[in-house]
Amino acid sequence: MQINVKNCKLIELKKIVDEKDGILSVAEQNVQIPFEIKRVYHIYGLNDISANRGYHAHKKLEQVIFCINGSFKLITDDGNNKNNFILNNPNKGIYIGKNLWHTMSEFSQDCIILVFASDFFNESDYIRDYNKFLKYIEELNWLILIISRKNIILLVLK
Ligand code: TYD
Repeated sequence: MQINVKNCKLIELKKIVDEKDGILSVAEQNVQIPFEIKRVYHIYGLNDISANRGYHAHKKLEQVIFCINGSFKLITDDGNNKNNFILNNPNKGIYIGKNLWHTMSEFSQDCIILVFASDFFNESDYIRDYNKFLKYIEELNWLILIISRKNIILLVLK
């Protein structure tokens, strides 16, 4: 799986296979999940073929998203690049870091999504307008450029 968007990576949980007794996968904070887990939520009842979710980015929140039953399509977009994922494996999730636009669609009817989040729900952390997201990313990039130039100038003057 080739991932070329920023703040996005595959999280693979190990599988403890008990033959006829099934499979166990574990997610622990700051181990497989790369942050302190403050909230867990799940999404289900995805019976409508035209269901679409997401269509937002977060300014600070980090999340890891698993499809623990069925399948769906996840698209992540850092403003420059996009990645498409089909999530259909309970032990393979995607880390969605900050400033990453994401959408979810093509849910199977039996789809159950499980999400670990780094903070409590906070609507003011959401960017729900794609053009505002692009503008936010552009402003952030300018800020990073200005800070790095300032640091270079300070280094030269030292
Ligand atoms: P949203 O994050 O937009 O869901 P998705 O990304 O899956 O499309 O949330 C949908 C609604 O649920 C929105 O009104 C906010 C509310 N919500 C909470 O109240 N608490 C939560 O922890 C989450 C994730 C959503």
